[in-house]
Amino acid sequence: MTVLVRDFRTEDAEAVTALRRVCIPYQVVTEELLLFGVATANPAKKYRLLVAEEEGVIIGTAHVGIAYESSEPGQSSVTPHVHPGRRGRGAGALLLRTAEEHLADEGATSVCAWVIDEPSSRAFAEKRGYRPSRGAHFQRLDLARAVLPEPPPLPPGFVLRTAGDFAGNPRPLFEADAESTSDEPSDISTALDDYEDWLHTTWNDPSLDRDLSTAVVAADGRVAAFTAVVTDRATTYVTGMTGTRRAFRNRGLAKLAKSDSLRRARAAGYTDAFTSNDGDNGPMLAVNKWFGYEICASEVRYVRTLG
Ligand SMILES: CC(C)(COP(=O)(O)OP(=O)(O)OC[C@H]1O[C@@H](n2cnc3c(N)ncnc32)[C@H](O)[C@@H]1OP(=O)(O)O)[C@@H](O)C(=O)NCCC(=O)NCCS
Repeated sequence: MTVLVRDFRTEDAEAVTALRRVCIPYQVVTEELLLFGVATANPAKKYRLLVAEEEGVIIGTAHVGIAYESSEPGQSSVTPHVHPGRRGRGAGALLLRTAEEHLADEGATSVCAWVIDEPSSRAFAEKRGYRPSRGAHFQRLDLARAVLPEPPPLPPGFVLRTAGDFAGNPRPLFEADAESTSDEPSDISTALDDYEDWLHTTWNDPSLDRDLSTAVVAADGRVAAFTAVVTDRATTYVTGMTGTRRAFRNRGLAKLAKSDSLRRARAAGYTDAFTSNDGDNGPMLAVNKWFGYEICASEVRYVRTLG
């Protein structure tokens, strides 16, 4: 049987959604989100969504792109995933090779892949010249049953808002996202300095649940802290980003934002909350542990130099 790799087509959306849900159950994947990603990717990303097909059945996928938001040029990423029942048939290797050729042609000098921390996936990456770097943890909270801790008090002068309240002018959210994202531990430094691109890729992301995303707003109108949430509009709630601006850290504001959002998500019927943090992100891991999140899977970032 022959495995082939090709670019995603619109009619693949249902099969790719189902496959990625099996491979990465702790992320939100919807058909709408896949189609949005393909249609609106920044041209600088040189984005491709690859699929591996065997006998007409999609058995693997990979998001492939240049890390164009990084302050260091030449960095790129690939996320190959093959259905657990269809591994060992060459799909992963072919996805990776196709991705690396494309990225090298577009000027990438290094490629990063997040690999599930399990022996077979790590061995696959190491055999193909990838070396391990940082780790990250996916964590799950059983939102239906969890006893959520009492939130810290809202400091005088601060108010809670939803992201939806910023529909007329989301710039204060962009400013908080840009400042906090630049401080997130990672070895691809990210500089969010393009408001228009942020509007396209983050604010207009169809999976962003503006009503369940919470902002803590200071008296001067600045967003001091926020939690941005993506959902499948059914049962799964995933934290896309939580951030507190530098001047407001360690005052319980991340806990406050997330407490408000999680409580409203539970009231809206969400049962599974997921989040993912870099293994060195002490403050965020502390916040999530306080809520009762437990590690459900770990990943290791692997890097390969191209050329
Ligand atoms: C992570 C972040 C959102 C926390 O915001 P915050 O408003 O300061 O958080 P809170 O004040 O609600 O809680 C911070 C907790 O971290 C703990 N903490 C602070 N520094 C820590 C460290 N280096 N190691 C471990 N825990 C630490 C605090 O003690 C506190 O926990 P406690 O109240 O149980 O003592 C903020 O540091 C930030 O924006 N970082 C950059 C962006 C980022 O990494 N976001 C997460 C992406 S996944």
